[in-house]
Amino acid sequence: MPQPDGLLEDCGGPFDLTPDHTISSFESQPTSEAEAAIIAFLRSEPQRHVGKRLLHVGVGNSSLPFEFVADLAEYVGITISLPELELFEQECAGIENASAMLANKYDPRAYAGITGQFDIIIDTVLKSYACCEKHFDRMMEFFASKLTIRGTLITTESGVQWGWKGNTKRAYTPGAQIDPSIGKYRVLGRDNLERLGERLGLALSAVKTSVSKLEDGADDSVLVLTKNESQAGRAPRGG
Ligand SMILES: C[S@@+](CC[C@H](N)C(=O)[O-])C[C@H]1O[C@@H](n2cnc3c(N)ncnc32)[C@H](O)[C@@H]1O
Repeated sequence: MPQPDGLLEDCGGPFDLTPDHTISSFESQPTSEAEAAIIAFLRSEPQRHVGKRLLHVGVGNSSLPFEFVADLAEYVGITISLPELELFEQECAGIENASAMLANKYDPRAYAGITGQFDIIIDTVLKSYACCEKHFDRMMEFFASKLTIRGTLITTESGVQWGWKGNTKRAYTPGAQIDPSIGKYRVLGRDNLERLGERLGLALSAVKTSVSKLEDGADDSVLVLTKNESQAGRAPRGG
């Protein structure tokens, strides 16, 4: 959606995480429909994840790492919520190929801590919690740079149709405006994702899974952005 006067263009940050931003989030919530659809998709095509390196953005209740870590080469999780991180550390204690870190995905200063290339990056809410367009774009460039050739960035239709409306009772992005009316500008939309993917060398395809119907009948297709071979030599910008 076009923004009036570049409302969300540049938050002026990045800003540091404070205790207000890292509070409870989704550690006690059920797995989202979006993530359940991604789990079903990966289960249905094991060759996509077995032996692969996976970056999971938004650890939530730790169900996704628990589901796949035994088959993965490595699981790396990111969360903005300390209680989510604590739950992950309990659930995945002693699992050597699983780690998670506290990081704001829209903060380029965090990217140096996310090392190596990934075969899969999962983020159900790519733009939904963004502080601004500038840092969202920077995050997408970073994700594209971290994918192996033919690697995939996976999200869902419901995720690209949702924007955070400023609920500060859960962990949230520093620098994000909390006026509920801003939420609609955090809705990415499939067409914008496709255009952005083209610019970054990522080709979009949509896949329906067995859990692709939400209760209200909305579409929850899994959206898969596959890195073109021509993007192989691209160096990450500053991270
Ligand atoms: C809607 S919940 C989804 C949780 C889980 N992935 C699922 O689908 O069930 C959003 C997730 O994104 C994380 N999150 C929100 N803003 C973030 C940010 N700026 N940086 C990193 N993680 C963030 C939250 O901590 C939470 O894990």
